[in-house]
Amino acid sequence: MGFPQQRPRRTRQSDAWRRLVRETRLTPDALIYPLFVVPGRAVRHPVESMPGICQLSVDEAVQEAKVAAAAGVPAVLLFAAPARKDAQASEARDPRGLASQAIAAIKEACPELLVWADVCLCGATDHGHCGHITSSGVIDNDSSIRTLAEVALNYARAGADAVAPSDMMDGRVGAIRALLDAQGHAATPIVAYAAKYASSFYGPFREAAESAPAFGDRRSYQMDPANAREALHEVLLDLEEGADLVMVKPAGPYLDIIRQVRDAVRVPVVAYQVSGEFSLIKAAAARGWVDERAAILETLTGIRRAGADLIISYFAPEVARWLSA
Ligand code: PBG
Repeated sequence: MGFPQQRPRRTRQSDAWRRLVRETRLTPDALIYPLFVVPGRAVRHPVESMPGICQLSVDEAVQEAKVAAAAGVPAVLLFAAPARKDAQASEARDPRGLASQAIAAIKEACPELLVWADVCLCGATDHGHCGHITSSGVIDNDSSIRTLAEVALNYARAGADAVAPSDMMDGRVGAIRALLDAQGHAATPIVAYAAKYASSFYGPFREAAESAPAFGDRRSYQMDPANAREALHEVLLDLEEGADLVMVKPAGPYLDIIRQVRDAVRVPVVAYQVSGEFSLIKAAAARGWVDERAAILETLTGIRRAGADLIISYFAPEVARWLSA
């Protein structure tokens, strides 16, 4: 039976109808807000390529975390851009390092807010790559995962509610899980950046996190945007190694991957609406080319509809306020 008996417009004719038949709901419960921490006090340094986003000193990150929590956002994701950078990523392994200080300060000020700590070496290495470099210029997998595990332990000890490795080295989830368990942190979850693509959409983030690679690119460890089966392979490996949540990143250009991962696993699926996705909307809205609020809500709804349970987004506090208004 088709038209004229079938008229799908019948259930679209008022807001009440549309609310009743809506299939996907966006709620503040699903949102995670990234924060960029820099050294100093009372620093709120605007990230030029990300309007409205600032690099924050620890004291200001605490304020920003309070604002996000008050808006109804359940979790923040912490990135540090320390001043000290060397081949060993010493800063990230230092129990008094910038990220650890920020984790402890936010947990003290907002105990209810979950603090996820991004675990990577790129912010703390002088070359800006996500792992250690051999003398021949190769990113060395196995020494990198030992360091990443140390960094994760450091953040767990500082009070992080989850550690989120974003480096894309092989075996890092297993290495982190083993060290956390051996050191009394069996209860700390791992959010694995499982399918993280070598994307052009990370550009603005690299300004915010001061983590652009000094040479080359990240294609020897991050995934080829052309691959989907490989994403499932990565996700299943991370689960075998002990990941508690798995992530797809970026989100918007990879909705098919989000859907396939959602259908393949039983754990929560996280999608990261990355810096470039944020800045594209901001730039077009600033020129009046798209309606900012509508575009933001549409992208987040699309990511949820594709199958993401949770979304990391720079829009999180603003959206949480809209949704609870
Ligand atoms: C670091 C890291 C990156 C992002 C999150 N963690 C950048 C990169 O891999 O170059 C990107 C986040 C964003 O663009 O918002 N490993």
